[in-house]
Amino acid sequence: MKTKTAIAIALSVMAGTASADGHSSVEVLHWWTSGGEAAALNVLKEDLNGQGVGWTDMPVAGGGGSDAMTVLRARVTAGDPPTAVQMLGFAIRDWAGEGALADLNDLAAEQNWDEVVPAALQGYSKFDGQWVAAPVNVHSTNWVWANSAILAQLGLEQPADWDGFVAAMQAAQDAGYIGLAHGGQAWQDATVFDSMVMGVGGPEFYQAAFIDLDPEALGSAQMVQAFQRMETLRGFVDDNFSGRDWNLASAMVANGEALFQIMGDWAKGEFINAGQTAGEEFQCFRVPGTEGTVTFNSDQFAMFKVTDETARGAQMTMASSVMSPEFQVAFNTVKGSVPARTDISDAAFDACGQLGMAQLAEAAASGGLFGSMAHGHANNPSVQNAMYDVITAHFNGEFDAETAAAELVTAVELAQ
Ligand code: BGC
Repeated sequence: MKTKTAIAIALSVMAGTASADGHSSVEVLHWWTSGGEAAALNVLKEDLNGQGVGWTDMPVAGGGGSDAMTVLRARVTAGDPPTAVQMLGFAIRDWAGEGALADLNDLAAEQNWDEVVPAALQGYSKFDGQWVAAPVNVHSTNWVWANSAILAQLGLEQPADWDGFVAAMQAAQDAGYIGLAHGGQAWQDATVFDSMVMGVGGPEFYQAAFIDLDPEALGSAQMVQAFQRMETLRGFVDDNFSGRDWNLASAMVANGEALFQIMGDWAKGEFINAGQTAGEEFQCFRVPGTEGTVTFNSDQFAMFKVTDETARGAQMTMASSVMSPEFQVAFNTVKGSVPARTDISDAAFDACGQLGMAQLAEAAASGGLFGSMAHGHANNPSVQNAMYDVITAHFNGEFDAETAAAELVTAVELAQ
């Protein structure tokens, strides 16, 4: 993984003795705090360590990164931004628009990022034609994680459609298991909602509601149905779901308490971290109704502008590492995601990773690839947060499905 390019080498030489005596380092703001996430982060830390770049950790837990982005704003306002920040989709554009991000163009040109990074990701990594972030992976949210032993015990196959999915959760509940492991946090509710919207209305509806923010779609009968599916799911969640972290919900599937979890493929990192294997103890399949589509998000590292050359050298070394093919394999096989480059073999990936890579390519080719609303790839952070509020209020029983759809129309209008 020490594939340094000329620019990265030159920049770390500029960092010079500073790297040897530990002054060359990156301060990284991120939300990778679960066991599986920490294991993946370690791959990056060790890679940089091997190149003489130190690491100052700035973790802020919370999927989707809302809390991390609040902390980031405070740090920037105080005039003390971290050097490197995990960021998603529209947030990258916002910070680039403020002129806060370092230009990665020379490195990108030298390493040919234009050729190897899929167009869907470049839409977020570049601003005004300039590279401002290095994509480390592609995750997607429309996955179900299933406990193989419970499926086998109940004589169930992977469900082929929504009715089959509901019937499987019912069978699990009847047998004394939890049908759906879930953590009641707004971003987790929203993650599930990505798939309800896609599953009910398909790509055109997803586009109209989440990307075009068309009030008719937001308030439509299909949106009501998507909320009704959330109510169905709510009936299979245990009583202690409120506030539970997503990785604890993954653990409930891993340890045989619950049959399914609907979650992005960072959940796979938890199963792997628990010593389990895809296709053996656990299985993955697309949320019934969303087959053929992929609702994706890509973790990217944005580098905040620095004047100090040593710090800039460390940033470029980090960006270069993140984009190296070897690193993308080493990191993503642990993280649960798939590479952010199109030129990487799937040989080192497990069954779910290979499926994910194939489905991503198919969805990209067939027009079925859409940015995840829940993870900042469909609309800007203020609209996203407005949607979170309605989705989570409905999931917690504040509104019925009709009211929720009407509230969504109003909330989105106010947030724009
Ligand atoms: C990030 C993932 C992360 C997940 C849960 C998502 O927003 O893209 O990398 O594992 O949140 O923390």
